[in-house]
Amino acid sequence: MIKAVIFDLDGVLVSTDELHFQAWKTLADELGITTFTREDNLRQRGVSRMASLEVVLEKSGRVYSDEEKLALADKKNTVYVESIARLTPSDVLPGARETLALLRDRGILTAIGSASRNTPLILEAIGIADTFDAIADGRDVTESKPSPAVFLCAARKLGVPPNECAVVEDADAGIEAAVRGGFVPVAVSAARYNPNAKYSAQSLADGALDWDVILG
Ligand code: BG6
Ligand code: MG
Repeated sequence: MIKAVIFDLDGVLVSTDELHFQAWKTLADELGITTFTREDNLRQRGVSRMASLEVVLEKSGRVYSDEEKLALADKKNTVYVESIARLTPSDVLPGARETLALLRDRGILTAIGSASRNTPLILEAIGIADTFDAIADGRDVTESKPSPAVFLCAARKLGVPPNECAVVEDADAGIEAAVRGGFVPVAVSAARYNPNAKYSAQSLADGALDWDVILG
């Protein structure tokens, strides 16, 4: 019996993936890396800012010091934060608001479990900051998905054990994190073909996920 649902943020509730890609692309261009692609960007989904930077730097012939890497990650984040400041409630992904309302009506707790340290800025910009019973994000944990740390933190904040929480994810790293943590993994978007997901759908829209079945 599911008592809570933990949502990844980027790519599940809000369409920030393109903004992450554009900000990394800007950095890659500045570094003279011309081979950074959308395919590479898929591997950045769900993982921390520093892990995402490594995906870009794999394409560089140069070795960067830890200090330089921190400066590069900051640079990307400055570009990214400028773009998320332009987010509005219309950037909430289709079906997200309806799903949150449906769960609330059924007395199911909801939380965010996101790698993003920008979670509060994003939730504020899209107008759903007050919707959740708990928020766990990249500021709460040091280990990035596929570690289950951020989901375990969300479950702890909710006071619900992992096996009574579903986790909704769009990234393979996030599905792996959910499995490792003992959560019920629900995949949308790019993760929907992941064989480890218990339930899958293209998105949260149009009743594609049968919450009667998922909640048990
Ligand atoms: C995740 C994104 O939600 O947050 C990743 O899917 C991103 O692509 C990670 O790297 C960290 O985000 P931020 O906002 O802390 O740089
Ligand atoms: Mg995501």
